[in-house]
Amino acid sequence: MSQSNEPLNGMAEPTDLLDGMDVEVDLTTQSLLLAAAHHDLSALKDLLRTSSATVVDPETGFTPLHAAVASLELDEEDKEGNEEERTQRRKEELEKGAETVRLLLQNGAIWNDLDSNDETAGCIARRLGLDEIYGLIVDAGCRAELLLRALEQYQPLGDDSDEDDDEEGEGDVVATEVADAEPEAKAADAMDTDTAVAVDPSTSNAAYLSSTLTQAPRAILDAGLNGVMMDWETPLMERHAELLLPTPGLRVLNVGHGMGIIDTFLQKHGPSSHHIIEAHPEVVASMKEKGWDKKPGVVVHEGRWQDVLPELIARSAETGEELVFDSVYFDTFAEDYGALKEFFSEWMIQFLDAEGRFGFFNGMGADRQVCYDVYTKVVEMDLFEAGFDVNWEDIKVQNLQEAGEWDGVRRPYFVADTYKLPTCKFMG
Ligand SMILES: C[S@@+](CC[C@H](N)C(=O)[O-])C[C@H]1O[C@@H](n2cnc3c(N)ncnc32)[C@H](O)[C@@H]1O
Repeated sequence: MSQSNEPLNGMAEPTDLLDGMDVEVDLTTQSLLLAAAHHDLSALKDLLRTSSATVVDPETGFTPLHAAVASLELDEEDKEGNEEERTQRRKEELEKGAETVRLLLQNGAIWNDLDSNDETAGCIARRLGLDEIYGLIVDAGCRAELLLRALEQYQPLGDDSDEDDDEEGEGDVVATEVADAEPEAKAADAMDTDTAVAVDPSTSNAAYLSSTLTQAPRAILDAGLNGVMMDWETPLMERHAELLLPTPGLRVLNVGHGMGIIDTFLQKHGPSSHHIIEAHPEVVASMKEKGWDKKPGVVVHEGRWQDVLPELIARSAETGEELVFDSVYFDTFAEDYGALKEFFSEWMIQFLDAEGRFGFFNGMGADRQVCYDVYTKVVEMDLFEAGFDVNWEDIKVQNLQEAGEWDGVRRPYFVADTYKLPTCKFMG
């Protein structure tokens, strides 16, 4: 990186920005971006006293956070001098860069703002191999998520109305959904809710469950062409099943049958009982066609898990029949993170054996690596709070774009190169 006071590659010269614009605002924006790019901490501190860390360069879409990270890209000047000098210079640059990123994050820089190249500052840090800075941004993302959630749970004194609550538990929707929204999803935001749901049924569990599915050999798509389940997930399902049922004769519950991939693998491990909860009528019909309801030891529960689980508890209380599983897997669709969290925080304690194992499809935020890393950390914290230890296993995922897996699918829902496979057990 060059430490001169030249503007960054691709960043407009201050004079370019002045044409026809508010001079004061643009000078402030430009000064912030330059101070961030040059890791000039004292100038940046001064500027941040009176201006916001969230300003944006109109041309590149860079925020100061983007500028601070992007300027760490190695350039010709970095090749000057002998190896020792180069190493020392790089070390100092990276330290100053990290300090700048810390300062910006402490002053309200938004971790997941996108530039005009569709990159967050974290994406740039990862692309440039800046591990420490990437880690700082991931940590900031976790803090932001937890704070956002705390704020959403806050109700002013005297306001006990719940008219904003909806069945999807929107309070837990992850914040990147706003920053990451595809242009079409942003357009959907502008529509009224009914129209948006009609365009994209995956935005609501109820809409998805009443929508028509396309069940092809290699995928199930909903009416909005969202991938409900896809064949490329097979190796992930196989490994989940192996880890959940290490020995034959165990009692397993799977929530969300989809293409039946994990249920087929679970069967191979010889469970003594195998309960499946599935809510979509077309998936249930296809399960029956394939004879799942006739398989020995298999019990199919039709309906949403939110309705089926209370019924199972009531029945067990009535009959005195024990309702305990050695392993539980959770993988639904068109539900937000709040649903998964509710499942493991409130329900698992009632069904999972003290020595049992719990797994789930870990795909939150996986349409962007930095978001995937943030949500993997967030879910780990929530699992910990719910009394679980998690073991993460890394599984390499092929480049699904290059493999043509997303052809005909509305949006790629997994772009990370590694799947973080969770297996959870109660602590202690
Ligand atoms: C991603 S697929 C599951 C894929 C499955 N793991 C496999 O290996 O094929 C999600 C499934 O959950 C079902 N589902 C969605 N919401 C549900 C809910 N609230 N309760 C139960 N099942 C639900 C969907 O109909 C779909 O069949």
